[in-house]
Formats: sequence, C-alpha cells, structure tokens
Amino acid sequence: MSNLLALLDAVDAQPVAVETRARSHDLLGDVTGRTVVDVGCGGGRAVAELAGRGARAVGVDLDPEMIAVARERWPVGEFHVGDARELPFETGSVAGYRADKVLHTLDDPARAVAEAHRVLAPGGRAVLIGQDWDTIVIDSDEPDVTRRLVHAKADSLPSPRVARGYRNLLLDAGFTDPVVEVHTAVFTGDTALAVLRRITDEESWLAGQAGRARRNRIFVAVPMFLVAARG
Ligand SMILES: C[S@@+](CC[C@H](N)C(=O)[O-])C[C@H]1O[C@@H](n2cnc3c(N)ncnc32)[C@H](O)[C@@H]1O
Repeated sequence: MSNLLALLDAVDAQPVAVETRARSHDLLGDVTGRTVVDVGCGGGRAVAELAGRGARAVGVDLDPEMIAVARERWPVGEFHVGDARELPFETGSVAGYRADKVLHTLDDPARAVAEAHRVLAPGGRAVLIGQDWDTIVIDSDEPDVTRRLVHAKADSLPSPRVARGYRNLLLDAGFTDPVVEVHTAVFTGDTALAVLRRITDEESWLAGQAGRARRNRIFVAVPMFLVAARG
C-alpha cells in the first residue's frame, strides 16, 4: 500500500491532477451541508477538499490501511471501510458521489455504478474519473516493446478500458445528462519513472527510461477521463 500511496501523492500533486479534482468537485454542484461520498478514497485528499467546500464529506475505501492513513491525515473528513459495490448509505441519502481511479480495479464496475445510482438522491450527481489503461503514451526508442508492456499491464487489470465506457455505464444505470471531459496528465520528471514502474518491472526497458529521465527526455502522457451525470 505504501508504494501506491506514495505514487498517488506524487500524481495528485501535479497541477493537472489538482485542476481535474477541482473540476470534479465543481461538477458535483453545490453540496454545502449535504453528504458527498468519495468511493475508493485512498489517502483521502478529495474528501478533505470537499469538506473544505462545506460538504459533509465521507470517504469509503475497501482497504483498512488506506482508511487509517486518511483518518490520520484529514481529521476534517469522515472515513469508513466499505465496498463500492455495497455502500454503507441508505437509498437516496447522498447528494454527490465520486470515484477517482477506482473502477478499473473492479471485475464488475457496472455493479458499483448501480450502487452509486441507488445511494444518490434524485438529481444528485456522480463523477467518475480514471485513465484508459490501453491509452498511455510513452516516448521510447523501443515502441514495439513499449506497446507490449502497456498492453500487458492493461491485461493484468480487471477492467482496464472502463474509463472509455464511463458514459455508457452511467447511462445504462439510469443516469442522465452526462458531461464528458478528458484532462491529460503529462509527466516529464521523476514522477514519470514512478508511473512507469507501476506499469512494468522489466528492468532493461526501465533502465532505458531512467536514462531518458537523467537526460531530461522522459515523456509520459495519460489522458484522464472525467464523466459527470445526474442520478
Ligand atoms: C488507485 S487508488 C485511488 C485512490 C484515490 N481515489 C485517488 O484518486 O488518489 C484505488 C483505491 O480504490 C480502493 N478500492 C479498490 N476496490 C475497492 C472497492 N471494491 N471498494 C472501495 N474501494 C476500493 C483501493 O483500496 C484504493 O485505495
């Protein structure tokens, strides 16, 4: 977990990530004094940001260690261990729902989206954010190897292409008025290498990328899909 958390901290500090999170909060509408849930909240940063906007912000994550970290970091938030597929909320009791970089980890993302629809009050808004794991752009002297490694990583995930399906998943679950945006994160420094280490442990290829990083020639771009819709 600590490796993932360190990477999330680095990625979440990138200006495009800060801007994308702010946009996701905006798309939830005015949630002042209302309950908003961040599902798969990880270290809890978005929950603290939403609490700062006046919401009763609740983070839910399957991993008790993540929840422990989130509680320690952000006393302003409320955090619970829980499953995206079975949320600890009454039907229609939540004004806003977000899940950021979460649904690709699920075998059955449609079930989580159905659960989002169940807990949302009529008119409440959901926002899904994440990358398409087949669509990670890496400058490389070995494009064929790079393509193979990116696809191998995608194939190791339960739902690697769920982000391109967010809009349709939401519509199929009964959501309306979808808004689709793509915000591309570009990594050119040490964080790029950390991102690539999450994709592969193939040392010779990573050594080539580390050389690029030393020469200030590493380049990774990750389009982040953001889809908001009304419950
Ligand atoms: C890649 S992290 C993203 C964390 C955070 N949303 C962020 O953007 O920094 C994915 C998170 O989803 C959580 N997760 C995975 N499956 C889950 C499930 N079924 N229900 C709730 N959380 C889940 C993991 O424990 C992890 O904290």
